[in-house]
Amino acid sequence: MTEQTQIDWDALREVALDAMGRAYAPYSNFPVGVAALVDDGRIIAGCNVENASYGIGLCAECALVSTLHMTGGGKLVAFTCVDGHGGALMPCGRCRQLLYEHSAPGMLLQTVSGIRTIDEVLPDAFGPRTLVDFAE
Ligand code: THU
Repeated sequence: MTEQTQIDWDALREVALDAMGRAYAPYSNFPVGVAALVDDGRIIAGCNVENASYGIGLCAECALVSTLHMTGGGKLVAFTCVDGHGGALMPCGRCRQLLYEHSAPGMLLQTVSGIRTIDEVLPDAFGPRTLVDFAE
């Protein structure tokens, strides 16, 4: 697992804040920005993008995982999420699942209750390994 001390959480948070400022959230007025460190050192970001058809709005994490693949793939090592006031925000349940799919082992998240691992915020997760185990 990547050492917690190697992660520049302040730098990651700055990127998330910038992304939050680009959010399109006219319906909820709840802009969200996320940023993540990838296992090759890249930093990627995303913001939420809502829609007049409310239910199809995209969480910021959707943009993040799309950007992950659009910019070279890899696994997520560290992640942060901020709300419109710049406070730490817990990813919603669906987005924890999205993040889990692309997580490096021991991925760290900056949360409302401190630094947590992906396994702590999504215990006993259903994921790619579950499907492989079933096929075996
Ligand atoms: N939202 C995110 O972008 N990520 C989350 O993890 C939580 C919720 C967005 C969705 C919606 O645009 C707004 O926050 C209010 O729910």
